[in-house]
Amino acid sequence: MNILVTGGTGYIASHTAVKLLAAGHQLVLVDNLANSNIAVLDRIALLSGQKPHFYQADIGNYAALSAIFTAHQIDAVIHFAGLKAVGESAQKPLHYYRENVAGSLQLLEVMQEFAVKSLIFSSSATVYGDPRELPLTEQSPIQPQSVYGRTKWMVEQIIADHCSADPSFSAVCLRYFNPVGAHPSGLMGEDPNGIPNNLLPFISQVAIGRREQLSVFGNDYPTADGTGVRDYIHVQDLAEGHRLALKLTNNPGCHRFNLGTGSGVSVLEMVDAFRAVSGHPVPLIICPRRTGDVAACYADAAKAQHELGWQAQLNLTDMVADTWRWQHLNPQGYQTPPAKLKEKL
Ligand code: NAD
Ligand code: UFG
Repeated sequence: MNILVTGGTGYIASHTAVKLLAAGHQLVLVDNLANSNIAVLDRIALLSGQKPHFYQADIGNYAALSAIFTAHQIDAVIHFAGLKAVGESAQKPLHYYRENVAGSLQLLEVMQEFAVKSLIFSSSATVYGDPRELPLTEQSPIQPQSVYGRTKWMVEQIIADHCSADPSFSAVCLRYFNPVGAHPSGLMGEDPNGIPNNLLPFISQVAIGRREQLSVFGNDYPTADGTGVRDYIHVQDLAEGHRLALKLTNNPGCHRFNLGTGSGVSVLEMVDAFRAVSGHPVPLIICPRRTGDVAACYADAAKAQHELGWQAQLNLTDMVADTWRWQHLNPQGYQTPPAKLKEKL
């Protein structure tokens, strides 16, 4: 298929791109580089032997999007582009609604104009908010607690309404739990701008010596060791989920799937796993809870298993080992000079 990948140089999209190119799909990537580095394209080329078309453009820009759809015969769109920092979304709600909701609307309108009828959308476990019961199924109550979560739920509703109005349109909303890990080659991984918000990039920057210590946000939750529990999923498994979701592109309607492992891991368990794999110390201090955090969140991913034939294959050790390989080979992320990288490979 000819697939347009929005947010194409981002963390999850870049791993998915390598997987889709290996499966024989043709890709067109679009990204405004707000949260990614152009060097990702060279790494995709190195891993796949192919350099996909790339456009530096904003999905909110009608003229730019329509020029891309004019230049390429697109069969399906995988829509990753968006902003994802839960805390920041509370400080800049209008920006988040503009980028995530209005941006998605613009994309859907251009897809409609060019009669492109298949979409995979990056949704999030944050649509569920504070779970009333675990594990979370796709039928669990939707009650997003953050602006970010609300943007994802709004886009899911827009997509569902569009599917109702156009019975030939197929959409798959993938609700990711906590994506972590890196490509096993160590050539691609997560390279957040500034201070990482998320646990695993923070731990790995402490282990490599870029940051002094990890702040553990609360050890008084009603969990086994008192720290927050999440369902961490390897980005390679997530990428495979997208490849399999493409099967539904001939199946009209709005489909929703949880993508998680079904197992919860606490902050302290993650720190222990990282120390064991890297052999490096991870100094930490216990801090107050972070506003908006929930005690525990993990998925029931049985629907994805039954309907997509998808199941997470990689375990916590794989997630940590691949993150560490990426961090170790690329101490400055994608800024790491290629010569330095070659020395280490
Ligand atoms: P990322 O920031 O690495 O990737 C998003 C990409 O979109 C970036 O490259 C960014 O430059 C680009 N982008 C942002 N706004 C854009 C715009 N208006 N036009 C064009 N490009 C734009 O994040 P990621 O972790 O790869 O996340 C991908 C998607 O998955 C996002 O929609 C995110 O909300 C969703 N998601 C992520 C997580 C997570 O924890 N990583 C969890 C659930 C859902
Ligand atoms: N944590 C710390 N210290 C840190 C960072 C995180 O103790 O420096 C803890 C958090 O309190 C939480 C756990 O580690 O208990 C995981 O936190 P993350 O920030 O890594 O992940 P979240 O579960 O808060 O949210 C992430 C993404 C969202 C996504 C969601 C899906 O940030 O974009 O997973 O479940 F939607």
